[in-house]
Amino acid sequence: MDYKQIIAGIYEAIRPYSEVGKQADYIPALAKVDPDQFGMCLHTIEGEEFPFMSSDVRFSIQSISKVFSLAMCLSLKGEELWKRVGKEPSGTAFNSLVQLEIEKGIPRNPFINAGAIVLSDILISELSDPEGEFLHFVRTLCGDDSIDFNMEVATSERETGYLNAAIANMLKYHGTIRNDIEDVLMFYFKMCSLEMSCRQLSKAMLAFTNHQPFEYAGYKLSTSRIKRLNAVMQTCGFYDEAGEFSYLVGLPGKSGVGGGIVAIYPKRYAVAVWSPRLNSKGNSVMGMKALELLTTETQESIF
Ligand code: DON
Repeated sequence: MDYKQIIAGIYEAIRPYSEVGKQADYIPALAKVDPDQFGMCLHTIEGEEFPFMSSDVRFSIQSISKVFSLAMCLSLKGEELWKRVGKEPSGTAFNSLVQLEIEKGIPRNPFINAGAIVLSDILISELSDPEGEFLHFVRTLCGDDSIDFNMEVATSERETGYLNAAIANMLKYHGTIRNDIEDVLMFYFKMCSLEMSCRQLSKAMLAFTNHQPFEYAGYKLSTSRIKRLNAVMQTCGFYDEAGEFSYLVGLPGKSGVGGGIVAIYPKRYAVAVWSPRLNSKGNSVMGMKALELLTTETQESIF
């Protein structure tokens, strides 16, 4: 498959959307990002690499980090994890408080903010150096020790993250999180602030693509667990747009409000795309379009 040519063609086709949407500004540090950027990179499990345009520019991966924290928690806790967090699509916004209240403090899934805050709490309980371990895991996945948090973004989100603080307080009230609220939130914001390029992200996602049991930095996932992680990405990776992403793209994936999206074509490739302008659901406009065209033109999707 000539992915290089296909991706170049896709970019030409989606250019009319280049000014649609706007970058996230509820995290003040993200409002400073130049919205008119586009990068994409596809890695096949055979090791071929197809970078395109700004594929080496690092951006805030935000909620894409939840794939990494879920992988760590699944490795540490196994099926027991699902006592603390559900695995059903939410159909609500990523930061919904209403659903958490109705469901008595058990988040619907690990990718909505409430669920990821629980993952953060679990990692703090289980690890002596959660931040260091998280960084080491992601760095090992993509073989790049330069990957790091962006403290300006993490601090900026802490200063304005009133809704996440409300979510954490409700989780604490219901006993779903056990550690100090401030520690749990700050670790969550740091994970979200991780900066990676499309090239680094698609490489890191290969671990969840080839369906071979893996061990990275001491964290192990069986083939069966990798299947389950992909299933949660498929059903919950795009919040109240998970159905739309499934319908248009047909791959397991995960988005972030930094404008990045990762997707996996099991046993074939991992792809990352980035463009900061978001739609009303918090997902990258050009990113969604690019992946829709990728699976349509290659006729490679899980459906
Ligand atoms: O907690 C937040 O609101 C952000 N740190 C992450 C949200 C996010 O990326 C949702 N994804 N589309």
